[in-house]
Order: sequence, then C-alpha cells, then structure tokens
Amino acid sequence: MNLFAALLIVCALTALALIGAGAANLEYLFGVIIPYAGISIFLIGLIYRVIHWAKSPVPFRIPTTCGQQKSLTWIKPNNLESPYNIWGVIGRMFLEIFFFRSLFRNTRAEVKEGPKIIYSASKWLWAAGLAFHWSFLVVIIRHFRFFIEPVPQIISNIESLDGFFQIGLPILYITDLILVGALGYLFFRRVVIPQVRYISLVADYLALFLLGAIVTSGICLRYYDKTDIVGIKELATNLLNLTPVIPEGIGVTFYIHLFLVSCLLMYFPFSKLMHMGGVFLSPTRNLANNNRVKRHINPWNHDVKLHTYAEYEEEFHDVMKAAGLPLEKE
Ligand code: HEM
Repeated sequence: MNLFAALLIVCALTALALIGAGAANLEYLFGVIIPYAGISIFLIGLIYRVIHWAKSPVPFRIPTTCGQQKSLTWIKPNNLESPYNIWGVIGRMFLEIFFFRSLFRNTRAEVKEGPKIIYSASKWLWAAGLAFHWSFLVVIIRHFRFFIEPVPQIISNIESLDGFFQIGLPILYITDLILVGALGYLFFRRVVIPQVRYISLVADYLALFLLGAIVTSGICLRYYDKTDIVGIKELATNLLNLTPVIPEGIGVTFYIHLFLVSCLLMYFPFSKLMHMGGVFLSPTRNLANNNRVKRHINPWNHDVKLHTYAEYEEEFHDVMKAAGLPLEKE
C-alpha cells in the first residue's frame, strides 16, 4: 500500500510536468519559477533545520564508543573507537561521512536451532549505500558543466574517467550504471526482506522512487531522447545569473527531469534525506569521550532551589500527623 502510494505520487508529478511543459506550454513555470522555488525552499529549509538542531542542548557527552578510552599511561587507548581529542573525532567523522564506517560494521542476527543466536556479516547495504552516494556525487559534479562556462578542466577529467570504457555513443557513464544498480538493490531489499518491508513507510519509497525517476529521465535525456545541450546550458547559466530565459527547442523530457529535481529539492529539508546535514550534528559521533579528563559543566546550570525534608515536614506537619505518618520533629 505504502509502495503504491509513493509510486502514484511520483507518476502524478511526472504527468504534471508532461502536461504542463509539453501540452500547456508552461515552459516558464517549469523552467524558471518552479526551479527557483525549489532551490529557495531547499536552502531556507536546510539552514532552518541545521540551526534548529545546532541550538538543541546537548547536556551530556554521549559519544558511542567501542574501544579503550584514554586511561592510565600503560593502557593503550583507541582514539578512533573512543576519541579523546579533536583529531580522534575528526578521524571518526571522516570515515563515517566518506565511507559509512558504522554501516560497514553492521551485523545480522539470526535465531538458529538450539535456540542460539548467530551473528553474521552484513555488507550489502553498506556496499549499495556507498555506491549510490558516491555515484550521485559524481553525477552532480559532472552536471556543473551545464552551469559553468568555460567548463573547468577538473570536470572534464571526471567526465573522461567516468566514461573510461568508451562504450556506445554518447559514451556510457559508469556512474549511471552504478546508480541504477544501487537504487534497484535498495528498492528490492525493502520489498523482499519481510522485516524491512514491514517498517517501510510512504516516505521510504518516495525518496527511492523520486531519485529513480530523476535518474531515469536523465538517462533518457542522454541516451535516447537526445536533447539540445546548448539550449539547456543557456537556460542553466541564465538561471544561475538570475537573468532567466527560455530558449527554443528544449524537449519535454528535460522539463520532466528539472521538475522532478525541483520537487526533490523542495522535499529534501522535510524528509529523511536530511541525514545529509544531520550526520554532522550527531552528538553520538561528534563529541570526544573525555569526561574523565575534563569536567564539563552545563553552561545553563543554575542554582537549584532546594526544598529540604525538614521544610517539607514543617509544611505538611499537621496533615502528616493526622494521617499517622512518622515525624522526625515531634
Ligand atoms: C538531483 C539532481 C540531479 C540528478 C540526480 C541528475 C541525474 C542525472 C543523470 C543520472 C543523468 C544521466 C546522464 C549523466 O549521468 O550525466 C542526467 C542527465 C542530464 N541532466 Fe540531470 N540530474 C540532476 C539535476 C539536473 C539539473 C538541475 C539539470 C539542469 C540543467 C539537469 C540536466 C540534465 C541534462 C541536460 C542531462 C543530459 C546530459 C547529457 O545529454 O549528457 N540535471 N541527470
């Protein structure tokens, strides 16, 4: 049910762009107004949520640790598993953000006959997640060629590397293949594993389908419905320079692609995809475990007004006596 609801939403969005930009000649709406709205909502939403998280009090140091913390000089500490200074934190965050280290160490628990619990390695989610995110990043970086003139050498180099095998014309990008494969795995995992299917919500499928539709429309643009790249570059650079124009001859597939990207941007700050910003603000990762070395005092600590037992007894003396409760001061 959740799966079909998400599918319906993405199909409806695609149909909207198809009818709007294709049949109803609303290119300005789909090529200028909606993309601007998308980027504005994305930026404002992202900043708002990050500031909101950053303002949340973190009264205790709560890093998750799984290694020896810094202790006596003859006990070897593990600065990655239990960071005791900023370098340990940076190292751990780096491995988490760029290589999804905690996901790499994921294990699967199964109850076998006995009954006993068997733990086994579970690396597929890590591999697919990493493949997806890195390919996605490369695709985004490659897209800068539409926005920058002349195209920086580094982007051309990434493009050549991505088309290293020189298959087909236009040359097939390896990242396109990986993106499709990784998204496919992430989707089938959700549908095939009963426990994962059970906890999957519309939002889980929606993120996958929206990304899938963006990638599919992009692939159509490049390999099948070959589009007018010069016109698109004119549109993209003018959008960036805040002098929007709609060039002639851009096909509807491009407007579908751009509209779905705009929808993703609008949805992003309010969705689970915000883990992109959240990972930096996670107190279980970004704090050093140095409680024993340093005394941390809450900056908002204030004097607590005490109500001693003696005062309490004095206040409720008569009632307590009437109820037959023992009294200290009698
Ligand atoms: C979340 C953002 C986006 C994603 C994930 C995405 C994804 C893709 C993918 C996977 C392709 C297939 C070919 C390739 O890998 O280069 C593609 C092609 C394309 N995309 Fe995007 N895209 C995004 C944003 C945009 C934006 C903002 C534009 C507007 C300029 C755009 C314009 C195009 C064009 C013109 C092509 C065809 C490229 C060619 O013929 O070589 N995309 N996109």
